[in-house]
Amino acid sequence: MKRFAVALAAALVLAFAGTASAQAPIVIKFSHVVSPEAPKGKAANVFKELAEKYTNGKVKVEVYPNSSLYKDKEELEALQLGSVQLLAPSISKFGPLGVREFDIFDLPFLMTDDTHARQMMASPMMAELNKKLETKGVTPLAYWDNGTYVYTASKPLLMPEDFRGMKMRIQGSKVLDATARQLGAIPQIIAFGELYQALQTGVVDGEDNVPSNIWTQKFYDVQKYLTVSNHGRLTYSLLTNTKFWNSLPADVRPQVDRAVKESTEYFNETAAKDNVDALDKIKATGKMQFHVLTDAEKKAWVAALMPVHKEMQSRFGKDFLEKIYKASGFVPPQS
Ligand code: LMR
Repeated sequence: MKRFAVALAAALVLAFAGTASAQAPIVIKFSHVVSPEAPKGKAANVFKELAEKYTNGKVKVEVYPNSSLYKDKEELEALQLGSVQLLAPSISKFGPLGVREFDIFDLPFLMTDDTHARQMMASPMMAELNKKLETKGVTPLAYWDNGTYVYTASKPLLMPEDFRGMKMRIQGSKVLDATARQLGAIPQIIAFGELYQALQTGVVDGEDNVPSNIWTQKFYDVQKYLTVSNHGRLTYSLLTNTKFWNSLPADVRPQVDRAVKESTEYFNETAAKDNVDALDKIKATGKMQFHVLTDAEKKAWVAALMPVHKEMQSRFGKDFLEKIYKASGFVPPQS
């Protein structure tokens, strides 16, 4: 009888533990710096919905938008420490991770072709770079393409010389720093979450970004001029903590991978459309004066910025640079 009671108690404990673990979902904290209405914000919410649905609630995703948990630099540190499990930072902000190769994608006018850009980020060529990130404890699960940049500023930016003496906000890469300096501007790294105020108070005079960010952050309230220049590209990496991702149970991982794949498709479709719409909506406010670079102006910008490609050759190596030129479809102009 006593033996039966002990067995019954043990069975009850096991059953209770089973229920408890079934009730305790794996939590994925997803931190990002943009508005929930921006393409990244929307895709983060789609990922949450799909991951929770496909895993039948075994996974719970908490999305923290608008730098509400961490700003640019802190979120990368938090990911390495495992305080968050998912981010989607711009690859121009990888400097603090110590993987300098990613800066190459910021070379001026390198990534202007949408098809090449997307194919390149999904190509096996990226495997080597992804491995470098893994040595830092983070794994890129996908790349999200947010399209090309426009410039906003407190004065019209039509020709390269218009940048002289301008304090320009940059996201962080060494190439973006060199680009601003080449134009005679003064670059300053500012976290995205602090950018509106920096533009409002004149800490910086301008910045480059995608229209959907300018729209959702209301930069049109604090910047008078916009130049459609398409000189660079905003690519995100959906980034996780390697240890965490590898520890996901076998009955959860494929479903979460499916949510990654589908939210990536969602992002790429949404971003392209949102950026076109955002440009129209900004125009409709009547608060910014628009200028689209003419062919002659664009030629002058390319000529003024090619020295950055030359300068960066020693940083990245000629072979790597040529590989990237080929993959991105970039043809350097004859000098
Ligand atoms: C920026 O810092 O301007 C962008 O990278 C913000 C973002 O994540 O879209």
